Amino acid sequence: MPSDHRMNDLQQATEIVRRRGMATPRTAIILGSGLGGLASEIEDPIAIRYAELPGFATSTASGHQGKLIGGKLDGVPVVVMAGRFHRYEGYDDAAVTFPLRLMAELGASRMIVSNAAGGLNPGYRVGDIVVLRDVIDWAKSPTRLGDDVTSAIDRVALASPISVVDEELLEAALQAARNADFTAHVGVYLATLGPTYETRAEYRMMRRFGIDVVGMSTAPEVRMARQLGMRVLALSMVSNVARPDIAVIANHEEVLAAGQAAAFKLRAIVAHVNQLPSP
Ligand code: HPA
Repeated sequence: MPSDHRMNDLQQATEIVRRRGMATPRTAIILGSGLGGLASEIEDPIAIRYAELPGFATSTASGHQGKLIGGKLDGVPVVVMAGRFHRYEGYDDAAVTFPLRLMAELGASRMIVSNAAGGLNPGYRVGDIVVLRDVIDWAKSPTRLGDDVTSAIDRVALASPISVVDEELLEAALQAARNADFTAHVGVYLATLGPTYETRAEYRMMRRFGIDVVGMSTAPEVRMARQLGMRVLALSMVSNVARPDIAVIANHEEVLAAGQAAAFKLRAIVAHVNQLPSP
């Protein structure tokens, strides 16, 4: 048994959460910028502030609540991160992904992760949902691999390139969109460090690389979840569209507003996928 700090933190955090009476979750859900509204729909919620959990960093981005919430969504036990950690806040990949290890320890066998992202694919519109087929990570952090505060799982998980795709969950998400009568695309997500949005030249370059959406999160969580054996569904909500030839600059307010308008789409997909039996 590794005797490093993170392992102790994981055991203590798990114990705290269990003591508060959280049931074994089927699905771990990470809510992105402006998509936190879903948290208020959880039945019999048990909310624990990140500050109460050893190993958790503190979330600072606006539009993020900073709470782990257990309960039921449509009758299915879930654990929800209302607020997540970003590398632009100064956290390394190990800190950003620590909650995943807790949620896996609690028993979640799949993860639905959402984010707000800039649309590069010219076919996308603000408010569209993109189901991610794969992720490119341009911001892998200098996690201190080999450092004795980094556990064995961090060492492997954060160093492994693993694809996102779970074909079954991806198809289920597309089906949910069709059922609810809205468009969902399938695309590739690029994770940058942030916190800046892109220059027009950067958007132009990314588009030429064939990237469909760009954002500042999700890649480390996906990598960790896959390493922990969870099935992953990753969703982007297009909060702004890149117009490399027009002088408009993305801003955080429009990202949050688009999230509110598209929340019902995320809700429909989560409802459908969450009902699928566990693997
Ligand atoms: N770029 C990077 N991250 C983002 C964007 C964007 O245009 N929109 C929302 N998150």
